[in-house]
Amino acid sequence: MKEIIGVIGAGTMGAGIAQVAAQSGHRVVLSDTNPEQLLRAEQQIKKSIEKLVEKGKFSADSGQEILENLQFSTQLSDHSQASLVIEAIVENLAIKHQVFTQLEQVVNPSCVLASNTSSLSIASIGACLQDASRFMGIHFFNPATIMPLVEVIPGVATSLSYTQHIEQLITSWSKTVVVCKDTPGFIVNRVARPFYGEALRIYEEGLADFATIDWAMTEMGGFKMGPFTLMDYIGNDINYTVTETVFAAFYYDPRFKPSFTQKRHMEAGFLGRKTNRGFYDYKEGSTPPSPTKDPVLGKQIFERILVLLINEAVDAVFMQVASPNAVDLAMTKGVNYPKGLLAWADELGAEWVLDKLESLFSEYGEDRYRPNPLLRRKVREQSKFIL
Ligand code: NAI
Repeated sequence: MKEIIGVIGAGTMGAGIAQVAAQSGHRVVLSDTNPEQLLRAEQQIKKSIEKLVEKGKFSADSGQEILENLQFSTQLSDHSQASLVIEAIVENLAIKHQVFTQLEQVVNPSCVLASNTSSLSIASIGACLQDASRFMGIHFFNPATIMPLVEVIPGVATSLSYTQHIEQLITSWSKTVVVCKDTPGFIVNRVARPFYGEALRIYEEGLADFATIDWAMTEMGGFKMGPFTLMDYIGNDINYTVTETVFAAFYYDPRFKPSFTQKRHMEAGFLGRKTNRGFYDYKEGSTPPSPTKDPVLGKQIFERILVLLINEAVDAVFMQVASPNAVDLAMTKGVNYPKGLLAWADELGAEWVLDKLESLFSEYGEDRYRPNPLLRRKVREQSKFIL
């Protein structure tokens, strides 16, 4: 008998996570306090399963079975039989505490409890539980049915045996699991910050416009989307908030300083695709701006952003947030980077990366360009990040 999985919150993430678990053969209870949201989630999952059947991903019978294994409920008590419950409700600590305090009264003592939080610490959410040893972060990416990466985050109180069990379980759902420390932004939302921040900084210095920076990163760097196209896709409100949250959580480390340009776009309601206007204009009939295809400038932009990304990946390893392999997997599977940043550093040579960072640091004298000590060590030892 497969485990029974509970998911709380039937919004963007919860509906996707419930579908992933059901497709892996589990009985799933998806709960939400809002019955209309539950209905929407049910319709969305049904449509998605029908599409997958049409595409031949599984048979009509299997599709039917998956749908029959899903139960939709407004009652938290319906999670009483679950062996794992993943919470994906609004990002608010007080409300999450309310839900987990009630949930702990309902589930059996060995049931693993988890949060899909992006920005709250696992320690702070788990603090409301009588037994936090069975509590951890299980962070899916949007859309959960498509994105392969899942970050598993044990808190200070979490037992290793529960973490190992969840690592195995989520891997069996055909996901790539990386385990990381309970630090702000976990892996992806921390390491990816310079992709946005340095692109904005380059624009603010007047070195290039949005289209040229996007061109440099896609054409020269091989990234699927340029930073400004991606920020418009994510939404400037969401992306700015993640940056601001990470900045504050790192005690205002200047490496993560948010940008006025993005803030002003957000304040003006230029949120991106969802408002038809962000860094670019998406209204019908509008002409996209042309980049300045100057290879010297393009290389300069790409290399500057890349070395800052590498420095951040190195820092995550240096501070023991995750292993080098986990950091590379996270960036390739969580945000589709064309290569793992540490493998990229190995390919270019740690010395080359260090040189670039040192020349930026000497030009600007700002902490954001400070090379990581582990990068210096790799140069000294002439060793690689990925063994
Ligand atoms: P959402 O706003 O789409 O859905 C939240 C759902 O929770 C709503 O359906 C709401 O009715 C329900 N809810 C609110 N309070 C509740 C309660 N007390 N009991 C039961 N249900 C309740 O939110 P979204 O975007 O799905 O985010 C959920 C969580 O996942 C947040 O912690 C967020 O930080 C995290 N996350 C979001 C990602 C994204 O791209 N949207 C990516 C990864 C994590």
